Amino acid sequence: MTKKHTAFSGIQPSGTLHIGNYLGAIKQWLPLQNDHDCIFAVVDYHAITVPYQPIDMRGRILDAALDYLAAGLDPKKVTLFVQSRVPEHTELAWLLSTVTPLSELHRMTQYKEKAAQYSAAINTGLITYPILMAADILLYNTHVVPVGEDQEQHVELTRTIARKFNKRFGETFTVPKVQLTEAKRVMSLADPTRKMSKSLGPKHYVALTDDEKTIRAKVAKAVTDIGGTPQGELSPGVRNLFMLLKEFGQTADYLRFENAHAGGTIKYSELKAAVADGIVKHLTPFQERRSALAREPKKIWAILEHGAERARPIAQKTMARVKQAMGLI
Ligand code: TYM
Repeated sequence: MTKKHTAFSGIQPSGTLHIGNYLGAIKQWLPLQNDHDCIFAVVDYHAITVPYQPIDMRGRILDAALDYLAAGLDPKKVTLFVQSRVPEHTELAWLLSTVTPLSELHRMTQYKEKAAQYSAAINTGLITYPILMAADILLYNTHVVPVGEDQEQHVELTRTIARKFNKRFGETFTVPKVQLTEAKRVMSLADPTRKMSKSLGPKHYVALTDDEKTIRAKVAKAVTDIGGTPQGELSPGVRNLFMLLKEFGQTADYLRFENAHAGGTIKYSELKAAVADGIVKHLTPFQERRSALAREPKKIWAILEHGAERARPIAQKTMARVKQAMGLI
């Protein structure tokens, strides 16, 4: 039997995940768990590169794990763990930093955005962030990295780092590939020229934990036509709503609204109601599973600890190989 390929991905514990995180990342993890060795991490070390309240962090980690599990990840099939419980991540990041050109880090879009957002307090972790992400991926001999489009540049850098290391110290790392979905870039509801993101504020995203009333209100206020869209093209807001309609399984509605749009008879209030129906239909069972899981936090922490125990030996084996290649042992 041929060995299964490995998939690795991570999500920052940002409190509430939104439908962008779900459609861009988690949704594509679900089929992978059946034919890949899957390793998924709650990347707490990445989350502390921006200001945060220490008292909230454990709760945020638990929330992310609940989202993973309620979305359908099966802890019997996949390894789920918290990044800081496997110290090899930061250890490898240091070693990789010695082959990573600083100029590459300065090019990273996410760094530029975050540096602008937190210009009063740019810490070193914000710029070295992609090296830690490369370490996350390379520790597990990863073949596939299923993420949203905003992380593609970081995966590209990971490939560069892996190749540079292999060239300098001999074949050590598997060079991973990015995997994107059709919904690789879900846009903000309130400003569809920008990516849906928690940091923009609540009216910009639908959280996986938003109740029906909130979901309907947010979608009803979504920006549609903003003018300036060339004839025959969908404006960014309308394109985003169509994409959501498709992703949340309203195929018949999708075709109906597509025809209405082509014929110039579309009513955006109806399109929005159909999008909200699809999201509510999808998130209701998710939220029910999530509330049931949330009643037993100890079980969730045990799953995460068990995951770290499974991840550690793989990470340790890679570290031994890396140190040997570098002449350190
Ligand atoms: P993070 O926590 O910002 O986002 C988690 C995942 O959600 C995707 N995503 C989106 N996809 C589509 N549309 C959107 N609007 C949207 N917003 C977010 C992201 O692309 C990501 O897949 N650096 C990473 C976390 C990380 C990681 C890793 C990922 C750390 N180490 C190793 C993969 C492999 C991040 O900040 O994702």
